[in-house]
Amino acid sequence: MPPLLEVKNLKKYFNTKGGMLHAVDDISFTLDAGKTLGVVGESGCGKTTLGRTILHLLDVTSGQILFEGKDITYPKKKELMKLREDMQIIFQDPYSSLDPRQSVKETIMEPLLIQGKLSKAECEKKAKELMDTVGLAARFENAYPHELDGGRRQRIGIARALALGPKFIVCDEPVSALDVSIQAQIINLLLDLQESLGIAYMFVTHDLSVVKYISNDIMVMYLGQMVEKASSDELFANPIHPYTQALLSAIPIPDIHNKTKRIILKGELTSPINPKPGCRFRPRCIYATEECEQPQVLTEPLPNHFVACCKCSELLNNRRNTQ
Ligand SMILES: Nc1ncnc2c1ncn2[C@@H]1O[C@H](COP(=O)(O)OP(=O)(O)OP(=O)(O)O)[C@@H](O)[C@H]1O
Ligand SMILES: [Mg+2]
Repeated sequence: MPPLLEVKNLKKYFNTKGGMLHAVDDISFTLDAGKTLGVVGESGCGKTTLGRTILHLLDVTSGQILFEGKDITYPKKKELMKLREDMQIIFQDPYSSLDPRQSVKETIMEPLLIQGKLSKAECEKKAKELMDTVGLAARFENAYPHELDGGRRQRIGIARALALGPKFIVCDEPVSALDVSIQAQIINLLLDLQESLGIAYMFVTHDLSVVKYISNDIMVMYLGQMVEKASSDELFANPIHPYTQALLSAIPIPDIHNKTKRIILKGELTSPINPKPGCRFRPRCIYATEECEQPQVLTEPLPNHFVACCKCSELLNNRRNTQ
């Protein structure tokens, strides 16, 4: 069986005044049905662009996207309609992604009405079922987004994304705009839905403790490129790339005996516009040498653990010697 989603050497460049902006630059991964790929990396590294390109909300520059083994890189109009059923997105800010003039029921019904397979009464019935699925009380069906709190608004976004029965959802920072107390409720709802409906997620987040909790695999991005990918447990146990190490060192650990030092990144951020070949993390990396000016190749220093860093064997040996 082919994986649900296979992304091969995907590139998305934007033509800007300053030159070609390499927002997503040669990303490859596979995702199986019912699994979660966490995507982490600092602001502007291309996480949203990657998600939106896979969903065809942006045109592909080059590379290939396969869904259930079928090439969907350049879909025809009819194929795109079908893909809108199979692949959906949940946005960071539920407020700005919802139409303020539509009630809860109308918002959830809209994709079903556009799809045109059900009568209006059937769409209404389905919308009410979806409200129940995402834990929105029936009394809110005629409410408007501004009358609800952030958690309930995000539940509307989730219900709308579920309406057409997708197999894959890009969750783009779905809880970062919510109060901490509500974040866990929404995360648990997404996990319950995954278990009952078998949906695969690409989960984009800044929050590393969340990503550890929910992901099977984690991809670390830096300026449009994948610098490291491994299973969640493996990545947290053995971060190899210097950028991943810095990122993980920033997670507060509730243990006074833990002496892990936070790595503060210094040096300038490389521009994503017309980047030079070689490691993009180089100006901020304490291990960088001339060797890092060569293009970096993705290697597999440990089973199913991929790293794009020419120093990775050295870094692994150093770690073994200090452990
Ligand atoms: N439509 C666009 N036109 C030109 N440049 C764009 C466009 N959309 C995104 N970019 C640029 O592409 C790069 C990646 O942006 P993107 O929004 O994907 O990053 P991100 O990782 O999602 O960041 P954040 O964590 O802040 O959401 C950035 O340099 C951004 O300025
Ligand atoms: Mg983003």
